[in-house]
Amino acid sequence: MGLYNALDNALASLDTQGLRRTRRIVSRLAGSEQSSAEAAEESSRGTRIEVDGRTLLAFCSNDYLGLANHPLIAQALADGALRDGAGSGASALISGHRSIHARLEARLAERLGPWIPNADALYFGAGYLANIGLVDALAGITQPGTAPDVAIFSEALNHASLVDGTRLARAHHGATVHVYRHCDTAALAQLLANSTATTKIILTDSVFSMDGHLAPLKELLTLAEQNDAWLVIDDAHGFGVLGSIGAGALEHCGLSSAHIVYMGTLGKAAGVAGAFIAADCRLIDWLVNRARPYVYSTACPPALSHALLASLDLLGSTEGDQRRAHLRLLCERLQRGLRAGLRLTHWQVPQSHSAIHPLIVGENAVALAAAALLRDQGIWVPAIRPPTVPPGTARLRISLSAEHTLAEVDQLVHGLIDAERQLT
Ligand SMILES: Cc1ncc(COP(=O)(O)O)c(C=O)c1O
Repeated sequence: MGLYNALDNALASLDTQGLRRTRRIVSRLAGSEQSSAEAAEESSRGTRIEVDGRTLLAFCSNDYLGLANHPLIAQALADGALRDGAGSGASALISGHRSIHARLEARLAERLGPWIPNADALYFGAGYLANIGLVDALAGITQPGTAPDVAIFSEALNHASLVDGTRLARAHHGATVHVYRHCDTAALAQLLANSTATTKIILTDSVFSMDGHLAPLKELLTLAEQNDAWLVIDDAHGFGVLGSIGAGALEHCGLSSAHIVYMGTLGKAAGVAGAFIAADCRLIDWLVNRARPYVYSTACPPALSHALLASLDLLGSTEGDQRRAHLRLLCERLQRGLRAGLRLTHWQVPQSHSAIHPLIVGENAVALAAAALLRDQGIWVPAIRPPTVPPGTARLRISLSAEHTLAEVDQLVHGLIDAERQLT
């Protein structure tokens, strides 16, 4: 059949480029099957997992504070399901918006309130959905009776969900899309100055998900204010981790403005699932009406909101502070260990402001070989290749969690030193 010939050829082409991805089947270590107390303790942490039947030390999760396996959150999820059921039954605008969703949104608005004037919040099923819905809906804000005249200014390394949001905005509202060079605020200033669009939207990740460093948020906000533009900040990897109370990039950078539209995810440091947008309450009202993934999708299971309220309690507690402090310690240990131990003649370790630490090795095949060498030593670090990162910058993406120990970070550093010796 012609259809399947084309499909087979397309898959074979992924193979020849070293770009074919497969999923691994992951399980938590089963605590009850562990014999020693030490093994039982290991199984309660999420950092040692079973992958295709082998136990591996994992450095590949976005569960930066180790909350995904926290017993209080798991308990809140279970209790919430028993109380409010497994599903919400309908989209939010029909009958799916439960009191627990409203409580969660109020808490999120309160958390971001110091940095977002008149803050309200909207809970989505995923960060991907929040971003595509947000960008499309922002681009659809027009004066009645006038044609949309929208320009979007998107940072080159933005997450795919922001990129896909711009594609929707272009298709639905004729938005013009300008991609500015990574962290190049001078180039962005020029593009903004040249634009005559009536609606201007700047899009940026706060922490770049494959690089770990921060966007120049202060400069971006100044440009947004000078040009009367929205500034959308995707803080998927900052919320919970950055800032002294874990409120994220805005707290970390001390930024507050009515121009900011903030997106934080809740399946990473918060350890559960979903995402939220925090912004001026009038914009949230617009999103309730116009963000299509929100309007046309069944509302999230209410139990998730119960779990997220427990997670927010932990993020704002002394335990949250301790987890953030331990994570910072681990990050420093990793960066210091890599810089001291690696030759870094062919590989690079960029500065990181987050729990994400890339080791850039260049070629796809080298990244795959390095990941395989680590796996032989019982360590799991994912190899990231194009199109997720630019060609020629394949890398190992190391992500740390407050559940790791210093000894585990040392073990990783030794594994990477070994891999570099063998591959360069
Ligand atoms: C920067 C960034 N934005 C958005 C998302 C999407 O979030 P979610 O996984 O909740 O869909 C991700 C996910 O990896 C991300 O890294």
